[in-house]
Order: sequence, then structure tokens, then C-alpha cells
Amino acid sequence: MIEDEMTDGRPSIDFDHHDPHFSAAETYASLRRTCPVAWSDRHGGFWVLSRYEDIANVARNDAVYSSARDEHGHGGIVIPEWSTETSIPIEMDPPEQMIYRRMLNQLFSPTAVQRLQPVVDELVTRTIDAFIERGNADLIDELTGPVPALVTVHVLGVAEHHAKRLQRAVHDVFSAAVGSERSARGAAEMQWVSQLLLEHVRERRVRPGADVLSFLCTQLVDGEPLTDEVIASIAKLIVGGGMDTTTSLTGQTLRFLSAYPDVRRRLVEQPDLLVPATEEFLRVFAPSQSMGRTVVKDATLHGCPVAPGERVLLPWVSANFDESVFERPEEVVLDRPKNRHLSFGIGYHRCVGAHLAKAMFQTMTRQVLSRLPDYEVLEEKVVEYPDRGNQTGLDALPAVFTPGPRVLAEA
Ligand code: HEM
Repeated sequence: MIEDEMTDGRPSIDFDHHDPHFSAAETYASLRRTCPVAWSDRHGGFWVLSRYEDIANVARNDAVYSSARDEHGHGGIVIPEWSTETSIPIEMDPPEQMIYRRMLNQLFSPTAVQRLQPVVDELVTRTIDAFIERGNADLIDELTGPVPALVTVHVLGVAEHHAKRLQRAVHDVFSAAVGSERSARGAAEMQWVSQLLLEHVRERRVRPGADVLSFLCTQLVDGEPLTDEVIASIAKLIVGGGMDTTTSLTGQTLRFLSAYPDVRRRLVEQPDLLVPATEEFLRVFAPSQSMGRTVVKDATLHGCPVAPGERVLLPWVSANFDESVFERPEEVVLDRPKNRHLSFGIGYHRCVGAHLAKAMFQTMTRQVLSRLPDYEVLEEKVVEYPDRGNQTGLDALPAVFTPGPRVLAEA
């Protein structure tokens, strides 16, 4: 329940998006109605926005609301902070951010993703082959987790046998509360990820291939090549950004399609519907629920003065359910017109991996619908993330189905 009161002239609420009992739907709906700019003392204090236009305006205003860290490593885009290491380029502001962003735009453009589609097809086919004869599977552990991890290592040029460990590290970081044992394990594993990526960068300098790390080794900034550390940081962001998010979107969608067979039937009968439906699933299931910014110049939000150093929470998921932008936001409308959801963010930092994420999601969903047509999720065995404040998703999604044939010969 939100208790509304004024503290030091601020509309203050008791708000903690990391509380295990936190309900994003209820809390943000109430805030959108009654308190669109609110201050919470939790996690060192931060402003909470909830209306679409406010969230979009702040995300677009990098000059006032920064993604960067200060000289002590404080700031960045996660509330509360879980690291002091700058993630390049997501924790930089333009124009510096754009230097690296232009490189990433080339790597993850619609054309680049189209070229990658046969690899995605093959990896999804192979992943489903591994369990289809059995008639049961945990769709997170055996499909939606492995596929983005395998695609990511392929794109980076990292050996495939590392995919599982990378996937687990990111999953632990994204799914558990900062300070928990699981989050600490994920953070420690992310140190191993940094080391692994650094080793791969050094190797690519000597033996370049047709991969992202090799491409980044050729890039210059002010006439100088990127350092190994900068390339490893960019690669680590691709690992972090690319894996668990798509896992979450696909897992939540497959759970929903099992619960609503009429919607599933529509997608089978009208396969083209999957394209607009992807936007709707992104809107409703927003894997990245919220991100943060730091105020760097005096400003006002709805008449509330905000000061340098203060943090601001941008709940993309609240924007996605804003009644003034989306008609009947609680309903899943597969062909919702003008679906301007903020699940990929907005502005300079809008997700560079959006095309790849959609390609992986659509390929997994299509193959599940065609190869496991009668799959049924065992709802009582579904496990949700223990913490859903920044990222949401599923830990387990067990399902049963009529066994089917493999497509590829066994490796
Ligand atoms: C459904 C899947 C995904 C979701 C929901 C998602 C969400 C987001 C969001 C909300 C942002 C904006 C961050 C901000 O404003 O601070 C972002 C940025 C980013 N994402 Fe994704 N992402 C997904 C998939 C991917 C994939 C597959 C990649 C792999 C390339 C990726 C790489 C990135 C990178 C590198 C950025 C930073 C861009 C920049 O700072 O210019 N993401 N993502």
C-alpha cells in the first residue's frame, strides 16, 4: 500500500520495487493516478515516475538525467547499484556514448540480423531436437535460456561450451535481489565473464575472425584502437543485455500461450500475427521492468524540484500500462495499433539488440507452436524470479507435450 505524505516538501511514499511482495501492476497504477512524481527513501533515496510521458521525457533528456557514473563509480542505470564498473556504452551519455553506439548499430542492424537468421534457425532447431523426443522439458532451462546464450557466443566469437556458464551468471544477476547470496554468486561469476572476454579479445587481435570481438578490434576512436578492456566491457554488455532478457520475454509468452489456447490458436492460424504480437508481448511482459538515471542539473518534475546527485527510477513497465496512451492496457491485443511500448527504452540508449531479440523470440515461438503444438505448461511447477524490481522472468517453466521427431541428425 502506498502511504502518501509530504517530507521536506516532497511527495514521499514507502516504495520498494525490490520488495518480494511488490506488485508492479497495482502500485504503478495507483501512482499514475495519484502521485506521478514521488520520493522513496529506500535504497539511498530516489524519485519514482510512473506516467508514460514523464518516463519518456526523462529517458530522452540525457543532459539533465544521466546514465553515467561519477568519479567514484556511483550512478549508472540500476537502482540500487550493484557494481561500480562503467558498462560501455549504456552507462555513458551522448556524445561519448554515440561513439560506441555507432559501432553497435552496424553490428545489430536489421540487415545484420537478417544475415544471422539461418544461425538462429539452426540453433533453435538443435535446441528443441535435444528434448523433443522426450515429451517433457523445462522450457526456460532447455530452450529460452540456451538459445540466446548460444546466439550471443556465436555473435561474439566465444567458444560454444562457455554458453551455459555465461547464461547462468547473467540469470543469477538479473533474477535475484542485490545483497542476496544468488546475486553475489552472479556478480562473482561476472568477474569470470570479464576475464574470459578479455582473453578472447587478446586472441582475436592475433587471429581475427568474422565476429563482434574481431570487428571491435578494428575500430578507432580519435585515431586510436579501442583498448582490450573497452572491448571486453562492450562485449560484457552484449552478454548481459542479450541473454536473460530474451529468455524472460519468450518464457513469459510461452506460459501465457499455454494458459490461453484461443490466443495460441489465432497465432497458429495467422502466423503473420506474430510480428505485431511480439510488440504486445514486449509491452505486457517487459523483461526490463525499470532502469535508473542520476540528476546532473537542477530541474523540476511536475513542479517538484530535483537536485544534482538524486536518483530517478524509470519503470518502463508502468509506461506500458499508462491508460492515457494504451487503450485497455490490461488486455493482450495481438494486433494492437501504434504500440509505442517502452520495453526497449527510448532515446539515445534505446536497445541496440531489439532486432536480434525479436528474431530470437519469434524463431523460438514459431518452432514451439509448430513442433510442440499441444505443449502444456505445468502451472503449479512454474517458478518466478525471486526479485522482479529491475528484471522480471521465470526460473522454471516445466511443460509436457506429445513427443515429436528430431529435425537434425544427432551430433
Ligand atoms: C527482449 C529483449 C531485450 C530487452 C527487453 C532489452 C531492454 C533494453 C533496454 C530497456 C535498454 C535501454 C537502456 C537504457 O535506457 O538505459 C537496452 C539497451 C541495450 N541493449 Fe537491450 N534488451 C533486450 C535485448 C538485447 C539484446 C539481444 C542485446 C544484444 C545485442 C541487447 C543489448 C543492449 C545494449 C548494448 C544496450 C545499450 C545501448 C546504448 O546504451 O546505446 N539487448 N536494452
